[in-house]
Amino acid sequence: MCGIIGYLGNKKALPLLIDGLERLEYRGYDSAGIAVYCRGKIVSIKSVGRVNLLKEKIAARRGVDGVIGIAHTRWATHGKPSEKNAHPHCDCKKDIWVCHNGIIENYKELKDWLIKRGHKFRSETDTEVLPHLMEEFYDGNLENALVEALKRIRGAYAVVAISKNEPEKIVAAKNSSPLIIGVGEKEYIIASDVSAILSRTKKVIYLNDGEAVVMGAGGIKFLDLSKKKVSTNLSGRTQVLDWDLTSAQKSGYPHFMLKEIFEQPESIANSLRGRLITDDGLVKLGGLEAVKDQLSGIKRILISACGTAFYASLAGEYMIEEKAGIPVEVDLASEFRYRRPIIDKNTAFIVVSQSGETADSLAALREAKEKGALTLGIVNTVGSTIARETDAGVYNHAGPEIGVASTKAFTSQLSIFALIVLFLARQRQMSLAEGKNLALELEKIPEKIKQILKTAPQIKKIAAKYKNFKNFFFLGRKYNYPVALEGALKLKEISYVHAEGYGAGELKHGPIALIDKNFPSVFIATENSVYEKTISNIEEIKARGGPIIAITNIGNKKIARLVDDIIYVPKTIEMLEPILNVIPLQLLAYYIGTMKGHDVDKPRNLAKSVTVE
Ligand code: M6R
Repeated sequence: MCGIIGYLGNKKALPLLIDGLERLEYRGYDSAGIAVYCRGKIVSIKSVGRVNLLKEKIAARRGVDGVIGIAHTRWATHGKPSEKNAHPHCDCKKDIWVCHNGIIENYKELKDWLIKRGHKFRSETDTEVLPHLMEEFYDGNLENALVEALKRIRGAYAVVAISKNEPEKIVAAKNSSPLIIGVGEKEYIIASDVSAILSRTKKVIYLNDGEAVVMGAGGIKFLDLSKKKVSTNLSGRTQVLDWDLTSAQKSGYPHFMLKEIFEQPESIANSLRGRLITDDGLVKLGGLEAVKDQLSGIKRILISACGTAFYASLAGEYMIEEKAGIPVEVDLASEFRYRRPIIDKNTAFIVVSQSGETADSLAALREAKEKGALTLGIVNTVGSTIARETDAGVYNHAGPEIGVASTKAFTSQLSIFALIVLFLARQRQMSLAEGKNLALELEKIPEKIKQILKTAPQIKKIAAKYKNFKNFFFLGRKYNYPVALEGALKLKEISYVHAEGYGAGELKHGPIALIDKNFPSVFIATENSVYEKTISNIEEIKARGGPIIAITNIGNKKIARLVDDIIYVPKTIEMLEPILNVIPLQLLAYYIGTMKGHDVDKPRNLAKSVTVE
């Protein structure tokens, strides 16, 4: 949700800022802007819409050749997308320029106070109070001004600022929203995530909540905002990223989404790599070693997440209860802390998040921690806030997911749940034989996904046939119920087509009233313990004239008499079916979305990392 980048070094800042904005654009894309220090003044250029439009505007300007600057790509919260609301924002004198990600909750009262003191506002944003506050407290030192401003604001922020009067430095601070510093050769890059840093350096420092930083020619200085302590010690803080630039590029695919769908055999193999001890039916999860004994005594598990990660968690619930025999509850992170969850020391709390920065998920984690739960994370982004705040956890190792619609993160989350289930179940009731079988089946998943991906051309044809329908149901039972929910989410978010996911048994309790020849249903009907029941539900739809697409197992010929179109997937054990069955749904959504001419990597109104509650 909003992307920030700042550059300070010996190269021209502008092209690097633009390159960074293009990589960060998936975080928000309704407007963008830059501010670069150039020969005694700060030049700012802004544009509504995509970074491309900003680029065109910049191309018409000459001489913006400074070596220090900040830039921002926005997902609007306060104030509509417009040039005047685009960041960076400045103070009255246009000396101090600020980019911000997050929400300043008390901005209204601060703005009123600043207006009374004579400040003139140019935008409708909450952010603009920051440069004016900094102006108010500026005493010749930019970091002091930032610290004073931050003392007065409530809310979440990642903020970077530069000043005309101190052109040799960038100051920044973080609370809840991400900020990462790339340490290059005689240069610093500060950004919302590593994708904007990778082209310059793999050496990064993760800024902590409640910390500010000053970067300048003389080096880097950290300020602990609560303890008022200053540190210049980088040792132990610099990490070397193992993501490479190609993982954040399209590599010949027309969209990141398609690339990420096709990457799944590899991303799942990476999630599993080095973790399965197949002969013993065991799993080795380094991130859970320290809490292994505690986990053997856990009596209850709560899982919380948002969106796609929430659906992966629902599948995780079914897996853990069935295989490890531990009661599980799954909550939307945005609801969790408002329902007074009951937590004791025998409760483990799992938070699932690709970005590791989702504000609701983070708030749920903090609530669970506060109440004494053992907190675990299933997180893709190494060093993210959620990864750092959980007691223990398992990284996805799925590589950066750039497409706004989550694909490879979902199948990786399911795979990690399978590993955790093996871990917990073998501590409890699962036999060696069952453990071994689960491990063997997991190892076969990447190859089976490759088989499904080969059917992409058939799925594309089905997409062409159904692309003009206005409504869809996605239906599945048991493990495939969360898959139905995820299939519907994929279609609505990138095709803007109304789609609802239901447990297939639920339709007759109301929604079936909608069925007619113009309302297709996508059934996940693989041959498992609820197959017969699912077939009955298909019959119910067929009897009412609704078109049906079915996903079933290779070799199932009987289903053809009931449905209009079939997508075949290989067989696996029931618990792992969601990992395979979601792939055709991702492709179906992708093809319908692109056939409608949508930018599937950056669907309207959305942003990749939702860092506001
Ligand atoms: O980064 P997270 O996994 O915490 O994100 C949670 C949701 O915002 C995310 O899964 C969202 O629903 C997907 N982008 C949808 O495809």
